[in-house]
Amino acid sequence: MKHVNHLAAGGYAFIPGSYYQALPDTHYENKDIFLSDLEQLKLAYESLTLDPYSPGNRWRGYAQCRRDAEGKLFFGHFTAYKQTKKYNPDTGGIIRQYPLLPENITANRLMQAILQDDIAFVEAYERIGALEELTVGIHLFRYEAQCDAPAYSSPVWLHKDDEDVVFVHLIHASANMLGGDNLIAPNPKNIERVLRLENLFDTLVVNHDKYHAVTPVGCREPGETAVRDIILVTFQRTEGEAA
Ligand SMILES: [Fe+2]
Repeated sequence: MKHVNHLAAGGYAFIPGSYYQALPDTHYENKDIFLSDLEQLKLAYESLTLDPYSPGNRWRGYAQCRRDAEGKLFFGHFTAYKQTKKYNPDTGGIIRQYPLLPENITANRLMQAILQDDIAFVEAYERIGALEELTVGIHLFRYEAQCDAPAYSSPVWLHKDDEDVVFVHLIHASANMLGGDNLIAPNPKNIERVLRLENLFDTLVVNHDKYHAVTPVGCREPGETAVRDIILVTFQRTEGEAA
């Protein structure tokens, strides 16, 4: 798996959306079923909750997932979700509660295919241990921006996440969006790579070796709204967890 090697050697990997679209579980023979599953996934972004813990016009939904003995995924809130002050001095240190993602989203076949592939990736990566010892988080994020109200992440600057491995999967970015570029940096003073998730399922995966950031999202046209919809899938070692 070349992307696994790239993450291990380079601290990040870009995986083109075409990779995910060609997975057996997403490459349906019936295009109509694929499109209706995609539509259902996109609709989920209409019913998220405005993040009450940080500014930045981001709408969120959250679940954790575990795998049973048969390999089936199940969902819930199993452990407290908290970012530490160490990694997020901006809004860390608070136990956060977000409404659980509804079952029609966690059971969505495209969502399941992405999650199973992320899990296979992390298992091939090997560095952070067995899946049973990891907390797996699924975050839906909508960045919703207007000209005078940009959307931005927390923290907005170069940082590392609490989680050991984080996937950012793009679901949709509107054509009137400004910004939303991902940055990779070996240290907070040098930028190594700028990349943009543009096509369906384009993915960035990062570990703790490098810093990353995403540039704030703006809107090109006054009176319009720009959106950037992503799924974040996070893997974190449970031992030593601050929560
Ligand atoms: Fe981050």
